[in-house]
Amino acid sequence: MSLPASDLSKQPDMRTTMELGAVLPRTAEVRDGHLFIGGVDMVELAREQGTALYVFDEADVRARMSEYREAFAARYSQSDIIFASKAFINKAMVRIVDEEGLCLDVSGGGELARALATGFPAERVFVHGNNKTPAELEEAMRAGVGRIVVDSRIELARVSEIAGRLGITQDIYMRITPGVEADTHEYIKTGCEDSKFGFTMLNDFAYTCVGTALETPHVRLVGLHCHIGSQIFALHSFREAADVMIDFMARVRDGYGHTITELDLGGGLGIAYAADDQPPSIEEFAEVTCTAVREACARHDLPLPRLLVEPGRSLVANAGVTLYTVGILKTLPGIRKYVAVDGGMSDNIRTALYHADYEPTIANKADQPRTEIVTLCGKHCESGDAVVIDMPLQQADLGDIVCVFGTGAYCYTMASNYNGQPRPGVVFVRDGQARVTTRRETYEDLYAKDL
Ligand SMILES: Cc1ncc(COP(=O)(O)O)c(C=O)c1O
Repeated sequence: MSLPASDLSKQPDMRTTMELGAVLPRTAEVRDGHLFIGGVDMVELAREQGTALYVFDEADVRARMSEYREAFAARYSQSDIIFASKAFINKAMVRIVDEEGLCLDVSGGGELARALATGFPAERVFVHGNNKTPAELEEAMRAGVGRIVVDSRIELARVSEIAGRLGITQDIYMRITPGVEADTHEYIKTGCEDSKFGFTMLNDFAYTCVGTALETPHVRLVGLHCHIGSQIFALHSFREAADVMIDFMARVRDGYGHTITELDLGGGLGIAYAADDQPPSIEEFAEVTCTAVREACARHDLPLPRLLVEPGRSLVANAGVTLYTVGILKTLPGIRKYVAVDGGMSDNIRTALYHADYEPTIANKADQPRTEIVTLCGKHCESGDAVVIDMPLQQADLGDIVCVFGTGAYCYTMASNYNGQPRPGVVFVRDGQARVTTRRETYEDLYAKDL
């Protein structure tokens, strides 16, 4: 794994921190040259808590959750927002999801266990995954989860067998692959035909399996689900997915005489990682989705289903940042300038995985223009270990506190202990207060499980 060659003609855009727009957490501000989030000085916080450190703007997270809820409630009679906890989960976030009245999507026994340990109501949990183990399914059913999103024929039989043994009837969705090519990175496309997820519509497979599900004991098919991918800006992709799903629901009604009453269109709304990114708003997403569902249902004379969406990234990514300390500076003439930080692919694998874009700033120089193009590399034993590739930054000095924006999703949950790096702590900031919601790992944590 290595980095793409640096584009040496790239010029810094000279924007200051507050000119980075949608990339910033909503309460970000600059006071006396320091970056503040939630009224808390990021430079002081870094010195108190150490780095690397994940920081969340709690007011921002709550505002996006209520925006989603209200945007759908204003346009549609019966809707629910499900937070995709794979984007970020700790107990504090689970509590916020509960308080804000959202449901929770879990993709494995561990996410479910954390939700239950926090006291999240099981009936508002949706269980996902393409290979849930029998043990995970049983744990979920014993807990009384609301819906299991069945991903394959084998799993349908498993759910039925376990539900029968437990003496319950389990409400299920079936995940359908709608064959919609979302306009996003290859690795995060999921709705196209060649996917490990869900029931393909090719050769009427999904349709036939719906028939099987309707005859399967101990399960009740209440809904269909699809998820076409992540970091999607093209709203027409969501409209196409809604059309395909409702056409399918109409076919199920006509062919089997069964009305599907719930439709979960998954997550996927994109966010701004770079200052020039212009993702659609939550309102625009809601408008397109609700309109598409209403129009398609009217075409087929179908009753409106309960409508659900499952955002992850668009709820938490821009609310979260990562703080690092600059430890080494290295300029390779004619190649690139490296600014090495005390983290890297262990706390943010997205850059190494798909050369994701991020905007950085120096929190103790936040009022200065970003005059250099640098690569923020990590401290790990991989050439491709970088957090930010070729982006503008202020002139860096040793000991500076770098803040990387937009790291609230798919960073902490994908973090590793590579090179024996303890995972960073997570701090929520709000109204001038900082609270540690997950403590930094210790060296002892690293070997506590070794026998
Ligand atoms: C089934 C499912 N639902 C929801 C999501 C959340 O997607 P996003 O974070 O792009 O909103 C994902 C993420 O890949 C997913 O796999």
